[in-house]
Amino acid sequence: IKVKKGHQPLEGRHVLITAGPTWEAIDPVRYIANRSSGKQGFAIAAAAAALGAKVSLVAGPVALKTPKGVDRIDVESAADMSQAVKDAMPADVAIMVAAVADWRPKEYRDEKMKKRGSAPPALVLTENPDILTNVGASDKRPTLVVGFAAETEDVLENAKRKRKRKAADWIIANDVSGDVMGGDENRVHIVSDEGVESLEQMPKIEVAMALLERIADKLTMPEA
Ligand code: CTP
Ligand code: CA
Repeated sequence: IKVKKGHQPLEGRHVLITAGPTWEAIDPVRYIANRSSGKQGFAIAAAAAALGAKVSLVAGPVALKTPKGVDRIDVESAADMSQAVKDAMPADVAIMVAAVADWRPKEYRDEKMKKRGSAPPALVLTENPDILTNVGASDKRPTLVVGFAAETEDVLENAKRKRKRKAADWIIANDVSGDVMGGDENRVHIVSDEGVESLEQMPKIEVAMALLERIADKLTMPEA
């Protein structure tokens, strides 16, 4: 990533990022997953480090290299991710980009489930902790709490509702109805209390840079 020499607006700041999917184990050989590649979250971590931040990147299972200058903590499940985020606090900024599984199997089977010629098993699911909401409600709440909203319909309306419901400062809405998941480009809308700023479709690393520059501005802005 190219940044202007000496341009380190996030120097001295700790930025905590989640990225990638989570895997929710059913038994020792099976799990529930989703299509998140982790690319947008890793790009955000790379951009934050390039702008001078100390970066903690809590990553679900992804096939990506650790960006330069980033402290990476690998996790598998939503429960592990939730714990790793708590352990990495406090932070000045939290950017929750992970596609956290909403549900996990209620029971984990210690042995591989067998067909045994009987009816297919019913998967009973239970809800995972909401990491973004918990960070926003934490007594160590970061100055700026940013969530992502992956939507396939009513993108902006859903994002605005999510911002309120999750007590996030900003929600980055992205329309995942196309080939965004796994792709190298993204089109996002920044939803804040000041309204909506829509960015052009661009490479995920450029989305990351645009976002981190705005975050740096926000942190240095004198309190209104
Ligand atoms: N998120 C989280 N923990 C969860 C679920 C979501 O931290 N258990 C975070 C995501 O990282 C993202 C934001 O919440 O920053 C929104 O995720 P999304 O899946 O869009 O929202 P949900 O509240 O799970 O709602 P739904 O999937 O029903 O649209
Ligand atoms: Ca969800």
